[in-house]
Amino acid sequence: MKHYLVTGGTGFIGSSLTKSLIKQGHRVRILDNDSRGEIARLKDIEGKFEFIKGDIRDKEVVEKACQKIDCIIHLAYINGTEYFYTKPELILEVGVKGIINILDGSIKHKVKNFILVSSSEVYQTPNIIPTPETVAMVIPDPFNSRYSYGAGKIISEILAINYGRKFFNKVMIVRPHNVYGPNMRFEHVIPQLTLRIKKIIGDKKGKGVIRLPIQGSGKETRAYMYIDDFTDGLLTVLDKGKHLEIYNIGTMQEITISQLAEEIGACFNVKIKIVPGKLTKGSTLRRCPDITKLKKLGFKQKTSLKDGLQKTIEWYNAFAHLQFKND
Ligand SMILES: NC(=O)c1ccc[n+]([C@@H]2O[C@H](COP(=O)([O-])OP(=O)(O)OC[C@H]3O[C@@H](n4cnc5c(N)ncnc54)[C@H](O)[C@@H]3O)[C@@H](O)[C@H]2O)c1
Repeated sequence: MKHYLVTGGTGFIGSSLTKSLIKQGHRVRILDNDSRGEIARLKDIEGKFEFIKGDIRDKEVVEKACQKIDCIIHLAYINGTEYFYTKPELILEVGVKGIINILDGSIKHKVKNFILVSSSEVYQTPNIIPTPETVAMVIPDPFNSRYSYGAGKIISEILAINYGRKFFNKVMIVRPHNVYGPNMRFEHVIPQLTLRIKKIIGDKKGKGVIRLPIQGSGKETRAYMYIDDFTDGLLTVLDKGKHLEIYNIGTMQEITISQLAEEIGACFNVKIKIVPGKLTKGSTLRRCPDITKLKKLGFKQKTSLKDGLQKTIEWYNAFAHLQFKND
C-alpha cells in the first residue's frame, strides 16, 4: 500500500484515478481548490480519502499536502480550450507556480516518486502522425494566447525532468490525448456536440437529418479515449513505467470531427449534415498519438468509441440541466 497525493483530484481525470487507487488498496490525499473540480464526483467513496481544499499556487498549503507521501500525481491545471484564449495569464500562473511549489514541497518532505500529467498540446501541429513521444515540443507563436496551455506544460516537463534527475528516485511524464466520458463538464467537443444535437432535436429544427454548424471543415481529426481506459493507462505507467520516461496515453483510432458528430447523431437516431465554419487561429488540424511505448508496458484498450459515447451521451442526456459554478 502506498500513500498518494493527487493534485487536481476532484477533477474529471483526478476523481477517476482516485477511485482506482482506493480500489487497489492505496491511501489517497487530494489537493484541489475545486475551481473546476467537484467533490461530488467522489461521493461513492466518501470518507475513504483525505481532501485538502487549497490552491496549488499557495506554497504553504502545497508543502503541508506533501507530508508523509510516497508518490505525487500532479494534475492540477486549468483545462478547457476556451480558457486558453480568455485566461492565458492564469493558466501560466497555475502551471508555473504549481509545478515549482509541488517540486519544492516534494524535496522538503522527501517524496521520491513524481508523475506529471502533461498534454498532447506540447506537440501543437506535429509533422509525424501518429505522434511518438520523441517529436519536439513547440510554441509556434508566442503572441497567440492559445499556446499558454502548451507553454505551461512544456515548462512543467522541463522542470520535472531536471529536478527529477537530482532529487527523485522516479519521475515520469504522461501526455493524455483527448480523454472523454461522463461528467467531464461542458466546455469540450463531445459534450458540446451532444448538447447542440439534443437542442436541435428538442427545438424540432431537425428530424431524420440535422444541419449542424461546427468550427472548421469537419475534416480535422482527433483520437478520443474513454476515461476508464485512460485511467488504466495511467495505472500501467505507475506500475511499470521507467524513471525519466515520457508516455503518450491515448488511442490510435483517429476520427474526423464529422465522423464524430455522425457517431453522436447515431446515438440520437438522427443523421448529421455538417455546416462548416471558421477554425480558431492556432487550432491543430490532426492529432493522434503513437502509443507503442504504452503498449509495450502491457496496456490494452477495452472500450470502443461507440460504447464510450453511448455512456457519455446517456450522462449528458440526464444531467444537461446542470451548470458548474465557475462557468
Ligand atoms: N481531459 C483531457 O482530455 C486532457 C488532455 C490532456 C491533458 N490533460 C491534463 O490532465 C489533467 C486533468 O485534466 P481534467 O480533464 O481532469 O481537467 P479538470 O479541469 O477536470 O481537472 C483539473 C483539476 O485541477 C484543479 N485546479 C485548477 N486550478 C487549481 C489550482 N490553482 N489549485 C488547485 N487545484 C486546481 C481543478 O479544480 C480541477 O479539479 C490536467 O493537467 C490537464 O491539463 C487532460
